[in-house]
Amino acid sequence: MEVSPSERGPQRENPNRCVMMDSGSYGSLNYSFLYLTFLLALPYFIHYHFLPKLFIGGETVRVKKTSDLPLRFRSDGTFKILQVADMHYGSGIITSCRDVMESEFKYCSDLNTTRFLKRMIQAESPDFIAFTGDNIFGSSTNDAAESMFKAFGPAMESGLPWAAVLGNHDQESTMNREELMSFISLMDYSVSQVNPSTDDSTNPTQGGMITNIDGFGNYHLRVFGAPGSTLANSSIMNLFFLDSGDRTVYQGIRTYGWIKDSQLNWLRNVSQECQGQKQNPLHSDGFPPLAPPALVFFHIPIKEVRQLFNKGIVGQFQEGVACSIANSGVLETFLSMRDVKAVFMGHDHKNDFCGNLDGVWFCYGGGFGYHAYGSAGWPRRARIILAELQKGETSWMGVEKIKTWKRLDDEKLSKIDEQILWGLSS
Ligand SMILES: *[C@@H]1O[C@H](CO)[C@@H](O)[C@H](O)[C@H]1NC(C)=O
Ligand SMILES: *[C@@H]1O[C@H](CO)[C@@H](O)[C@H](O)[C@H]1NC(C)=O
Ligand SMILES: *[C@@H]1O[C@H](CO)[C@@H](O)[C@H](O)[C@H]1NC(C)=O
Repeated sequence: MEVSPSERGPQRENPNRCVMMDSGSYGSLNYSFLYLTFLLALPYFIHYHFLPKLFIGGETVRVKKTSDLPLRFRSDGTFKILQVADMHYGSGIITSCRDVMESEFKYCSDLNTTRFLKRMIQAESPDFIAFTGDNIFGSSTNDAAESMFKAFGPAMESGLPWAAVLGNHDQESTMNREELMSFISLMDYSVSQVNPSTDDSTNPTQGGMITNIDGFGNYHLRVFGAPGSTLANSSIMNLFFLDSGDRTVYQGIRTYGWIKDSQLNWLRNVSQECQGQKQNPLHSDGFPPLAPPALVFFHIPIKEVRQLFNKGIVGQFQEGVACSIANSGVLETFLSMRDVKAVFMGHDHKNDFCGNLDGVWFCYGGGFGYHAYGSAGWPRRARIILAELQKGETSWMGVEKIKTWKRLDDEKLSKIDEQILWGLSS
């Protein structure tokens, strides 16, 4: 994708983001200043020469910042994910809030969404952030790149690895879905991918990326064992990201997008590889004995989530499940894979529950963004997912337990609805 200068976003807000060579702007300055600048810039140049480089346009050299990879459990045996659903970011301070109390309306904007994200990162110190779509609300911005820089800003500033999928509103501005995912994959500390890379499968490929898959933003991330542990070189938890599309016409009826056969085929294949650990060069002698648990992230819920109404859910079911009328067998696929323990979705902001369908948990993040619809007086919220390792005799082992809870954007960031989603013994 060619990114035009206007799509580069507000670089002034991120002075350390990149090494820049802008030949136009030095014209009026004298030579000594130019020379000094050159000398000062030289070490950076040499340093960055050996890092992955990224050229956007002809003039600017941008270096994407990355955190320590691969993703791995901490030495205390935990891995914590912050799920952010439906930020619906617009243009920042000029974008007003929806569904807040009348008294709150005047001083409420997208900046409240930014503030909530910063508070969550500070309060929970997650290891990873997963954005499950409708990150930006396309129709409330005339520059998708700028909106994304603002929306993901706190994640980029935190230096934490983060990943995003698209919802049904992200592409309603100046970028299509492919451009959005490319852009997101190039942002600082993002570990998002446009589509799966070939090391996950033996499929027909182009430039290292699988091409015969529907959508943009289908990818797989591995989480490795705790440093220094027996499983330090093994992937012991898998995170799958899927593009659930936007809107489409199915059998003559306008409906939401859905996860297609091609995506499910890819998922099945990767899951099989993970469970066999065949393709994992880091895998060491026979560990882990059990298939690593998998978590799945996408935006639009599947139809079966409707069955959870009046069932034993944790959290609230306050609006209809807005999903596609098409059913490609997502639940059946997850069940047949056997490693999927929980699914994290967005889309329906007034639902924030977790419910169990045939052994797989389906959890909503609950609406996060202030420009997104919600209920006045029902605080914006975010979900935390915590995986804990089993303690062996001398070392941390594989995943023992997966828990979740939510926090409300109130004064105390109240913690609610803590529950265990999966445990080794269950
Ligand atoms: C939005 O942020 C402002 C400024 O920090 C704060 O005064 C206001 O209470 C916030 N509004 C809501 C609804 O959180
Ligand atoms: C993991 O890989 C590193 C580097 O190759 C090696 O030093 C270490 O011993 C390995 N650890 C295990 C548990 O296999
Ligand atoms: C999945 O694996 C099967 C068998 O190895 C292969 O024929 C198929 O093309 C793969 N499909 C995808 C989408 O990866």
